[in-house]
Amino acid sequence: MSVQKSSLAVFGGAPAKTVPYTKGVRFGPAEEEAAVAAIRSQKLWMKQGGTRVPAVEKTICELWGVPHAIACSSGTAALHLAAVACGVEPGDEVILNPTTDWGTICGLLAIGAVPVFADVHPDTLSLDPAAVAGTITPRTRAIILVHFAGYPAHVKEIVTLARRHNVKVIEDCAQSPLAMLDGRPLGVFGDVGAFSANDSKHVSCGEGGFVTLHDDEMDRIGRLFIDKAYERNKARGQTDVTFLGFNYRMSELSAAVLDVQLRGLPEQIRRRTAYAEQLLDGLDGLPGLRVLRPLPGGRGAYWFVLSCLEPERLSADRATIAKALAAEGVAVWAALSPASTLYGTTALREKKLYPQGRTAPADFLRDRQYGPGLCPVAERVAANVLSFLVSPFYTAQDANETVAGVRKVMEYYQSK
Ligand SMILES: Cc1ncc(COP(=O)(O)O)c(C=O)c1O
Repeated sequence: MSVQKSSLAVFGGAPAKTVPYTKGVRFGPAEEEAAVAAIRSQKLWMKQGGTRVPAVEKTICELWGVPHAIACSSGTAALHLAAVACGVEPGDEVILNPTTDWGTICGLLAIGAVPVFADVHPDTLSLDPAAVAGTITPRTRAIILVHFAGYPAHVKEIVTLARRHNVKVIEDCAQSPLAMLDGRPLGVFGDVGAFSANDSKHVSCGEGGFVTLHDDEMDRIGRLFIDKAYERNKARGQTDVTFLGFNYRMSELSAAVLDVQLRGLPEQIRRRTAYAEQLLDGLDGLPGLRVLRPLPGGRGAYWFVLSCLEPERLSADRATIAKALAAEGVAVWAALSPASTLYGTTALREKKLYPQGRTAPADFLRDRQYGPGLCPVAERVAANVLSFLVSPFYTAQDANETVAGVRKVMEYYQSK
């Protein structure tokens, strides 16, 4: 049965969403108590006897089943730490996908490493192992694999490929904490898993991040790196610094809140999964909309539910469809990442890494061309993706009404 134009909310019909999306309390009494206890302890700095940073690191080790975890100040810091712990140095090439947050790349550029972009796989919107294979050179030191929007990427294939070439793997799990593949949490497959606890993420302490690690030496380097590389075991006045580190430490206050948040993460994922699966089932097979499910053997963390429009099967463009969905009250984001593609940013296109640009173009990038056309699949996805918002507080009614709104709009705009 065809959908009448007048039934669409954007043309005056009744919106599919009859009630606003359900909201909840993200930081409850447990977080409040933990923060107050940290303040009352009079110790907000782990280096002066605070216990909360070590405690949250222990919680991370338990949840991820790893021997080492390091808490730090942001996901960006975690990825910088990860690159340094993997031995990335100036001039080394690091392969990554172009459709991620700019925070994935900051550490690499600060080091003077060369970002090499490989195209994405349409089923994960993250690195395509075949594309990665074509970009490995003798100068490749590491691959950063982003598990996008809560969906497991092709991590097993990428790790196998990397091992063959003696290349390290950093898993950027900022959007995918406790997403799983073959029963193992993401972030334990490669050499380092990097996570964010900024306020848009599953778990938040305002700003924060952490890494998961297997290797003792990488753990030692990582801990030094986020503490200005001070060798603190020496007597005061003899403290040495043996390499360049930064202050990327997490405060005790943040650690107290993050610990509580992490303990609630498994339940949060359960709730997100229930909502996401209702959406995926309800939107399956719609004309002109391809919804993404986790890879076989995978379990999503569902930061978003992802879908891609199929323009050849539709009579309207994404902007028109997004507007119609918004009129229905459907919570949707018509973009892939804040900058669409990293190589499309002014900083990379012009190799201008400093605001005054006196040293531009960045010398270490001189042999590279950055700009549109590098990764056609990523660009097509970026132009066609629709990301449906997910929250642990959304209900079955929210899912039903979202499905109804999307179905109405997509059926109306299918090619006649
Ligand atoms: C995939 C990805 N990597 C890295 C980051 C950076 O994390 P943060 O904002 O905590 O520095 C983000 C945050 O948006 C992200 O989504």
